[in-house]
Amino acid sequence: MEEVRTQVAIVGAGPAGLLLGHLLERAGVANVVLEHRSREYVEQRVRAGVIEYGVVNFLEEVGAGERLRREGLTHHGVELRFDHTTHRVALSDLADGKTITVYGQQELVKDLIALRLALGAPTRFEHEVVALEDLTGTTPVVRAKGPEGELRVECEFVAGCDGSFGVATRSIPGSTLRRHERTYPFAWLGILAEAAPTTEELIYARHERGFALYSMRSPTVSRLYLGVEPSETLEAWPDDRIWEELNLRLATESSPNVNEGPIMERSITAMRSVVCEPMRYGRLLVAGDAAHIVPPTGAKGMNLALGDIRVLARALVAQIREGDNRLLEAYSATCLERVWRAEEFSNYMTQMLHPSNDDFENGVQHARLRQVVASREAATVLARNYCDLNGL
Ligand code: FAD
Ligand code: DHB
Repeated sequence: MEEVRTQVAIVGAGPAGLLLGHLLERAGVANVVLEHRSREYVEQRVRAGVIEYGVVNFLEEVGAGERLRREGLTHHGVELRFDHTTHRVALSDLADGKTITVYGQQELVKDLIALRLALGAPTRFEHEVVALEDLTGTTPVVRAKGPEGELRVECEFVAGCDGSFGVATRSIPGSTLRRHERTYPFAWLGILAEAAPTTEELIYARHERGFALYSMRSPTVSRLYLGVEPSETLEAWPDDRIWEELNLRLATESSPNVNEGPIMERSITAMRSVVCEPMRYGRLLVAGDAAHIVPPTGAKGMNLALGDIRVLARALVAQIREGDNRLLEAYSATCLERVWRAEEFSNYMTQMLHPSNDDFENGVQHARLRQVVASREAATVLARNYCDLNGL
């Protein structure tokens, strides 16, 4: 068995774990990243696409936003479509000039991995963490299995950045952990297609047949989503059916069709809201999807994960370098305040845009949508939350 020592053992090389590693490296705090999957796998995993205003600025400030600034697509508005009519929400006019940036999550992951490897920071891909031990002692231990056998990492702190199915939250005893959860009666079928985006801005559409979202990745690649039953399978959705349904749900009189093209990637994701409290147990700190999940309708998951890391990195550096434990003591409460605001916004967007079998609920959804397009105050709340809920 191989044994290593470090200051912070980071479980997971998603956006959260990689950004934490980067910030600790910059502050001179030794760390090791342990990732179950291969580098190729995490660099190709297609997921989020919208990065908030403050998060983009923060990434740039810490030297991780160079390609993001160059290649990311800055958006000043989004469209809300319902009752076959489209309404623009002028995000930057309503949110004090703030914008959002469309940039694939895997592109940010690639950038952070490249920065890490350039510094020679220890990164173990294909290492599955199987146990976290002695979390309430002074020297916690992380046990992992890699291609060459077992690895034992002794550290001062463990950062659980291992996503929603990881080992970190499971290591917190049931008597300490409170889990708040809601499952929604729909899922999203997402595709990535080689097709020039039909519009310049994102479109969130509520149609009687279900939700649809038009997004993009570049001038030649579109990213689209359809709300489907949680029991749906990809086999039931051949390409023709996907395009037909997207055209039905997104059509308006002035733009009846979306641009079609070969589908490069497709997946179905269930929609859930989860909050785990507290986000700390002894010397284990959990961050990102490991601690909370939001349904994707508000585009908040990755932004929240990166927001947690900003708080966590400062807290760990203060503790390790200056022996100051105040930020670490406050870590969970500081994050949860923002996490619940993101849960509220994601729940609001989800419930407003996914038609229901319940007529009363549908009436409420219409009233909410009409309020957003009729009231500058309502649109302002939406725009501020959408552009910069994390306020980094
Ligand atoms: P992850 O990205 O899940 O990373 C966790 C890592 O830990 C993974 O690499 C995993 O392999 C690894 N791991 C797990 N278990 C172990 C183990 N035992 N040992 C070692 N490694 C382990 N968010 C937004 O902000 N904007 C959006 O527009 C948006 N759209 C989305 C659309 C879809 C369809 C989906 C599915 C999600 C979307 N999200 C969005 C959410 C976003 O993708 C997640 O919130 C984000 O990936 C969270 O990052 P993370 O680093 O916390 O977790
Ligand atoms: C994308 C994903 C989202 O969840 C969202 O709300 C908006 C855009 C995207 O993948 O581009």
